[in-house]
Amino acid sequence: MRKPIMAGNWKLNKNHLETLTFIDEITPLLRDVSAVDIVICPPFTSLNVATARTKGTNVKVGAQDLFWEKSGAFTGEISGDMLKVLGCDYVIIGHSERRQYFGETDETVNKKILAAFTAGLIPIVCVGETLQEREAGQVEQVLSTQIREGLQGLNAQEHGKIVIAYEPVWAIGTGRTATPEQANAAHVLIRKLLSEIFGAAAQDIRIQYGGSVKPENVKELMAQPDIDGALIGGAALQAEAFEKLVRYK
Ligand code: G3P
Repeated sequence: MRKPIMAGNWKLNKNHLETLTFIDEITPLLRDVSAVDIVICPPFTSLNVATARTKGTNVKVGAQDLFWEKSGAFTGEISGDMLKVLGCDYVIIGHSERRQYFGETDETVNKKILAAFTAGLIPIVCVGETLQEREAGQVEQVLSTQIREGLQGLNAQEHGKIVIAYEPVWAIGTGRTATPEQANAAHVLIRKLLSEIFGAAAQDIRIQYGGSVKPENVKELMAQPDIDGALIGGAALQAEAFEKLVRYK
């Protein structure tokens, strides 16, 4: 009942010319796919060409961040409206790299989620624990704080299309993937937390797994009942690998 969503988070990779090359490779490969939502999230400087080149295809475009104000004296920032006008459909919010290197907190995540919805974008909200937190037995506590505070004030009517990405920090770019069972257990917990906010509609919210997802492990991860897609970093940068990830079966 939940349509799988496979998204590539390109992080700080590919200029606009490389973006065009990737799109020209990937769109014919994925033309026939309709059972999965496909999203690429290039850097800001590639979004213009990405939305133009994917227009009319089944590949949707997301940004990797946004700012919550619509306009004004905020040097270096990009608003949700700017992304929407460009043709973006999604925006990643609260990635652990932004939390770690750029001071994102659950409070800024919350503001950004609300701004994304106001602009008509679907937020992909990242949560996940560090290795230290996992080893200290704090997974539940960490996820619970991130979800409760990050998603404060949301409701099923206005914000039910939200996508959550569970990305254990220790699995990102490390080659160390959570086992399918570990990931699913976290997803079940997240869905329980979502039901406190969204009620029964939490059953319809898609929860992606992210962290060293690759063609070799995607099938077993996707076989888990509460894993509804993947947010993929490194392995999404190459068209052939991304095609395999989208066709995970
Ligand atoms: O957002 C996706 C990400 O953090 C996972 O990165 O390279 O481990 O797939 P990677």
